[in-house]
Amino acid sequence: MKVINAKLRHKDGLYTVSYQQGTFDSIELQTGLLNEAVSADVIDAKQQLLMAPLIDPHIHLDAVLTAGEPEWNMSGTLFEGIERWGQRKETITFEDTKQRAKKTVDMLTAHGIQHVRTHVDVTDPALTALHAMLEVKEEIKDKVNLQIVAFPQEGIESYKNGHGLMEEAVKLGADVVGGIPHFEYTREKGVSSVHFLMDLAEKYDRLVDVHCDEIDDPASRFLEVLADEARVRGMGERVTASHTTAMGSYDNAYCYKLFRLLKRSKINFISCPTESIHLQGRFDTYPKRRGLTRVAEIDRAGMNISFAQDSIRDPWYPVGNGNIIRILDAGLHICHMLGYEDLQRCLDFVSDNSAKTLCLGDQYGIEVGRPASFIIMNAQNDYDVVANQAKAVLSVRNGAVIMRRQEEQVEIFA
Ligand code: FE2
Repeated sequence: MKVINAKLRHKDGLYTVSYQQGTFDSIELQTGLLNEAVSADVIDAKQQLLMAPLIDPHIHLDAVLTAGEPEWNMSGTLFEGIERWGQRKETITFEDTKQRAKKTVDMLTAHGIQHVRTHVDVTDPALTALHAMLEVKEEIKDKVNLQIVAFPQEGIESYKNGHGLMEEAVKLGADVVGGIPHFEYTREKGVSSVHFLMDLAEKYDRLVDVHCDEIDDPASRFLEVLADEARVRGMGERVTASHTTAMGSYDNAYCYKLFRLLKRSKINFISCPTESIHLQGRFDTYPKRRGLTRVAEIDRAGMNISFAQDSIRDPWYPVGNGNIIRILDAGLHICHMLGYEDLQRCLDFVSDNSAKTLCLGDQYGIEVGRPASFIIMNAQNDYDVVANQAKAVLSVRNGAVIMRRQEEQVEIFA
């Protein structure tokens, strides 16, 4: 099998990319445009961009497609979202969770996403959503590689048997240990929740991804606790701080000191720009904060940060369609990252950087010997993807086509 006339990121010319038995076996520069007939074995990329699959490193598949059930989040705050979710949780069933999650996975697949990290609420004595998601993970494995985070939506220390439920979730098969220290009842409980979750991850050899300081409160400083725990234990590359929106409210003197620790810790960051601009800044009049973490500054400091969707039509965020390029577009705008250099490499924030966060290693990337998983975007390069709001037109996973989009036809008559 081969793809001809492919543009590759950051490379001039056109390439032929070949693969056999689900693995790339050659990537060769062409001398010019090829005119081979398309067949079952030959795909013509038509001078469009062939790249590694897109990734959504932070979503809540157990909550998707529930907006307005039973009530809408009228204030638009994160805290009312947690209340509305608490109501919806009472009617969650195993089948309901599976059906919504699988429908959403198809929405993600339609946009060229092949790797997903989903948080699943484990503050439920029956762990219904987790059981459902473990089945979903198996059933969708030909489309998407799913990492499941044991996520304590209502707290670890502040929820009855929080410790027990987290450990049970990990034993059942959660890949990643989560947390929500800023939501615990006291600062002390927030700190002890971080110690607990890091111990749990170390004990069971799991990754870590914490909802950390998802609040505009400049006094919310659990990131330093998480980063230092990661540094001391040497686990940084396996640890992620999601959101860290309070960093958008920290003063520069504290942030300067904090960055020294963050760099040494080697932890990863995830920002959910559409979610955060919607949920944060809700207690401000004017000036009104954007409510995002310092994405550009984290990136410029050489640390790893990526963008994610977080929600699709749930109690926290009422819209969304699975298109991570929409999130990238919004994130670059909100974070003042539409400069020339950012635009040349902006797809890193929804591909390579996310792969590092998910610890995909040599299972990801357009290189000989790696799995033949790739997408073709209807664009030429990173800049073109954002400028034209490009879409994935083909998605191939381990050598098999899993999604094809018919190209749009627009006719203008004047
Ligand atoms: Fe989240």
